[in-house]
Amino acid sequence: MSALFQPFTLKDVTLRNRIAVPPMCQYMAVDGVPNEWHLSHYASIARGGAGLVIVEATGVAPEGRITPGCTGLWNDQQAQAFVPVVQAIKAAGAVPGIQIGHAGRKASANKPWEGDDHIAADDARAWETIAPSAIAFGGGLPRTPRAMTLEDIARVRQNFVDAAVRARDTGFEWLELHFAHGYLAQSFFSPHSNQRDDIYGGSVENRGRFLLETLRAVREVWPENLPLTVRFGVIEYDGRDEQTLAESIGLVRQFKAAGMDMISVSVNFVIPDTHIPWGPAFLGPIAERVRREADVPVSSAWGFGTPEIAERVVKDQQLDLVMVGRAHLANPHWPYFAAKEIGIDRASWTLPAPYAHWLERY
Ligand SMILES: Cc1cc2nc3c(=O)[nH]c(=O)nc-3n(C[C@H](O)[C@H](O)[C@H](O)COP(=O)(O)O)c2cc1C
Repeated sequence: MSALFQPFTLKDVTLRNRIAVPPMCQYMAVDGVPNEWHLSHYASIARGGAGLVIVEATGVAPEGRITPGCTGLWNDQQAQAFVPVVQAIKAAGAVPGIQIGHAGRKASANKPWEGDDHIAADDARAWETIAPSAIAFGGGLPRTPRAMTLEDIARVRQNFVDAAVRARDTGFEWLELHFAHGYLAQSFFSPHSNQRDDIYGGSVENRGRFLLETLRAVREVWPENLPLTVRFGVIEYDGRDEQTLAESIGLVRQFKAAGMDMISVSVNFVIPDTHIPWGPAFLGPIAERVRREADVPVSSAWGFGTPEIAERVVKDQQLDLVMVGRAHLANPHWPYFAAKEIGIDRASWTLPAPYAHWLERY
């Protein structure tokens, strides 16, 4: 019996299998409003059979978008435009999730295929970036952000809450807070990017404060019976990994106590010069350690999109949910072909009935 194709229940939500599509920015929105592209993209991926589809990193404020093409949830027009996307994902039998975030000092960038770097400061499309401290990321993102005031911190926390309310009212059933990848929340936790001398910087407790406060505030408005997850980088690969992992796992335990239901284990990406050991399932053992030491369900991404690997990491209890990203872009019906490859009888039942019926018939 396949482990990957077992259902997974978190709170009142049951996924039809352990395959999740992680958030993947499409950079195709205008003024943060999703459109026909998003509808067709998410509908096709949901139809392919994954249990969960998490909509791309969606900005909680205009300045929190990574690029001008990123989606947002800071106004009702954006929320309304997400309704058909949610309905299409549900109609295909998947659970609709969304990731909300703030890009911090990595915001105001060009789309990846237009440079992936900061928009020039004198370009009318650029905007001011904010971060815990006035320290630039470097590399292709050289612009120095403005250090946030306490008012900024309170406002962005409220932006997360307001976006969570909109996500709830739009019909999303799974909410992920983007605390990873060097964006605003992750940059609060890292001493590389946070050198504040107030209650939001310095000690581990202070560096984790913005993340915990935001999580707690969102939990108050996000329904108790629906999953609230966090995507969080737990390792930087900068040479001080044991310390970062220990601090990160400590914070994950606090996330759990604050009402987080699952952690999506990822990489920090706070600084450009690191030594990431890219390779199939390289985060598997790290995710397993977080799962064990923090006693929380985990998911992870980066190189799990091969059927045998996806099956194995669930079977070995490294991951509870496997995120399969780029393989879904190449083949939205990845779960069906994965089921065939790992030898599941009548693999077509991974597909919606109008497809499945015909694939087994003749
Ligand atoms: C086009 C694209 C957009 C992405 N956008 C996001 C995002 O919005 N939020 C996020 O947390 N990760 C994002 N990622 C990272 C993916 O969620 C995932 O971690 C990555 O693709 C590795 O998984 P894979 O090897 O299965 O593709 C993106 C990746 C790609 C390829």
